[in-house]
Amino acid sequence: MVEVRDLRKRYTTYLRRGMFGREKKVVEALRGISFSIRGGEVFGLLGPNGAGKTTTVKILSTLLLPDGGEAYVCGHDVVREPTAVRKVIGVSLSVERGFFWKLTGRENLTYFGMLYGLDGRDLREKVDGLLDLMGLSDLEAADKLYEEYSLGMKARLSVARALLTDPEVVILDEPTLGLDPPSARALREILVGLAHREGKTVLVTTHNMFEAEIMVDRVAIINGGEIVALGTVDELKARVAGRISLEFLFFPPASVRVDEVVSAVRSSAEAAEVFPEDGGVRLKVLASPEERDEVTSAILGELHGRGCSVRRVEIREPSLEDVFISLTGKTGL
Ligand SMILES: Nc1ncnc2c1ncn2[C@@H]1O[C@H](COP(=O)(O)OP(=O)(O)O)[C@@H](O)[C@H]1O
Ligand SMILES: [Mg+2]
Repeated sequence: MVEVRDLRKRYTTYLRRGMFGREKKVVEALRGISFSIRGGEVFGLLGPNGAGKTTTVKILSTLLLPDGGEAYVCGHDVVREPTAVRKVIGVSLSVERGFFWKLTGRENLTYFGMLYGLDGRDLREKVDGLLDLMGLSDLEAADKLYEEYSLGMKARLSVARALLTDPEVVILDEPTLGLDPPSARALREILVGLAHREGKTVLVTTHNMFEAEIMVDRVAIINGGEIVALGTVDELKARVAGRISLEFLFFPPASVRVDEVVSAVRSSAEAAEVFPEDGGVRLKVLASPEERDEVTSAILGELHGRGCSVRRVEIREPSLEDVFISLTGKTGL
């Protein structure tokens, strides 16, 4: 359904230097990425900020031209046949952009439906059907002004708009960004349903590992404009199989530097990374099951020796987060 081959994109920007000077800066946003998406699957593009996710979806949506490589949607070339591509895709690149604040959700959808050439009963039925599908059909939601919508409702309306033309391929850039957990969950369920029940091909981007883990059929992990891993979540997790993830939540005293703790821990454990959590620090390491106790006590000794209070120690199955860390050697997303 979607075929991407060696896609490249660079941006040239100019940085201000002093009063009159400027300096050219080239950003390699995509360094030759390739992947393909099958019909009826939810495909995730997972990566940290600046990885190249938005650039990729903009190229696939024909909003941006690549500098090299090729991309096809339903067999149509995004560069040479943009009109044909636009006919088969539904796109939501930003939750709020382009809606009328003084119209209701229903009126907004009706307006965009008319732009897409729908009218009369077809249009009414389409709008009603989409409001229903998105859980916006009760009168209060559908007939509330857009400006009174919660972010979760706006996100759902944005997906509804992307579906007005009954597209085969739905492209969504960080659709759950900023949503509270229940709204994000509801939206994820809708998107999975679109693919698995209605046979749509769904491409979503996210920087949320957990989201990718529970929602997508296959995922490409993108980092610095390159795809560093691609496969089902289980396949990717198999790369860190045979190891377990140990997590420590600790609170360092003001005099202790976290990066020093991390370097100390790295001498006794693999892939040590830290994430801020609950005002403290969450430290993650990978270990084989046999060395679990040894590594745990070494790290506890290290933390206690530096006066850190340890609130929690957990042992987990590896997650996508561990895959990311072990592939990129970087802190989580
Ligand atoms: N219009 C632009 N001009 C210059 N640099 C850009 C532009 N858009 C994106 N970039 C840069 O390209 C890289 C990839 O950006 P983007 O595709 O937005 O990543 P993501 O969506 O994964 O956060 C980043 O380094 C970003 O700063
Ligand atoms: Mg982005």
